[in-house]
Amino acid sequence: MNVLIAGGAGFIGCHLTDALIDAGCKVVCADILRFGGREKLEKYLGSADFSFYETDICDERRLDEIFAAHSFDRVYHLAANSDIQKGGGDPSIDFHDTFLTTVSLLNAMRRHGAREMLFASTSAVYGDKRELLKEDTGDLRPISYYGAAKLASESFISAYSAMNGLRACVTRFPNVVGPGLTHGAVYDFIAKLRKDPAKLEILGDGKQEKPYIYVSDLVDAMLSMNYPEGVTVCNAGVETATTVRRIADIVCEEMGLDNVEYRFTGGAAGWPGDVPKFQYDLSKIHALGWRAKHTSDEAVRLAARLSL
Ligand SMILES: NC(=O)c1ccc[n+]([C@@H]2O[C@H](COP(=O)([O-])OP(=O)(O)OC[C@H]3O[C@@H](n4cnc5c(N)ncnc54)[C@H](O)[C@@H]3O)[C@@H](O)[C@H]2O)c1
Repeated sequence: MNVLIAGGAGFIGCHLTDALIDAGCKVVCADILRFGGREKLEKYLGSADFSFYETDICDERRLDEIFAAHSFDRVYHLAANSDIQKGGGDPSIDFHDTFLTTVSLLNAMRRHGAREMLFASTSAVYGDKRELLKEDTGDLRPISYYGAAKLASESFISAYSAMNGLRACVTRFPNVVGPGLTHGAVYDFIAKLRKDPAKLEILGDGKQEKPYIYVSDLVDAMLSMNYPEGVTVCNAGVETATTVRRIADIVCEEMGLDNVEYRFTGGAAGWPGDVPKFQYDLSKIHALGWRAKHTSDEAVRLAARLSL
C-alpha cells in the first residue's frame, strides 16, 4: 500500500511510520516540523519505500505535487497543533493547524481520487462530560479550540464522505505516551525535574485522572481499523486511568528522586480547556478484536523510563 502520513515527523507519526514500513507499505511523510524532528526518520531517507516532504499541509499547491507524485491508497491525518495550552492563547493556531489541515487534505484527496483516511481525533471532542464516553454520545460541546477544531474536522470528513465517497475511520485517541514524546505531563515533568530535581510544579490539583495509552498499543489499534463505506468513529483507549499526581510519582521513581516537593497550581483543570477527568466506553474497538496490552500506569512508567 502507498500511504501518506500528514504530521508524520511527530511523536505518533514516527511510530506509525516504523510500523507501516515493517508491514511492507511505501510511506510518504509530510510535516512542517513544528514539533516533530526529521532526525527520527533519518534512517529511512534514501530508501525506495520512504519519502519526506517538509511542508505546511495547508499549502494545497504543494499537496497537489505530492499527491501527483504518489498514488495514495490511504491517508493518515495526524497533523495538528498538539500544544493545547499554547493554542488556548491564540485560537488561530488550532484553526490553521488542526482544522485547515483537514480541509486541505480532504480537498487534495478529492482532486486526486484518494479514498481512505484515518483521522487522529481526540477525547477533547466530547467536552467536559463525566459519563462513560461512547462514540454515539451526543451534544458534543468541546471546551478547547483544539477540541473544536477536531470536531469541526470530523464534520468536514463526514460531508466529504457523503459527497465524494470517502471511506474514513475517525479514531478518537486518549492521552498517548511512549518514547519520543513532544508534549504532555510525562514530558513536562521530566524536563522540569532535570532543571530542578528538588521541586516540581504540577498544573491543577493533581487529581485530574485520564487514560494513558502506550504508543505501540495505539499504533496496533490504528492498523486494526476497517474502512467500510462512509465514516466509522471509534474510541481507542485503555480501561484504566492515571492521576496527574501518580504520573509525578512514577516519573520521580523512574528518575530515582526522593522527597521532591510538589507545588500544585490549584484548580480541578490544569489549564483553560483541560478536561480533568474522562473515560471511554471501549466496547466497539474491543469487538474488532483489539485490546491494549499495557494498563494506563504501565504505559506512563514505560514512557518515563524510555524518555530518560
Ligand atoms: N499525543 C496525544 O496524547 C494525542 C491525543 C489525542 C489526539 N492526538 C492527535 O494525534 C496526532 C499526532 O499527535 P502527536 O502527539 O504525535 O503530536 P506531534 O505534535 O508530535 O505531531 C503532530 C505533527 O503535526 C505537524 N504539523 C502541525 N501542523 C502542521 C501543518 N500545518 N502542516 C504540516 N504539519 C503540521 C507537527 O510538526 C508535528 O510533527 C495529532 O493530530 C493529535 O491531535 C494526540
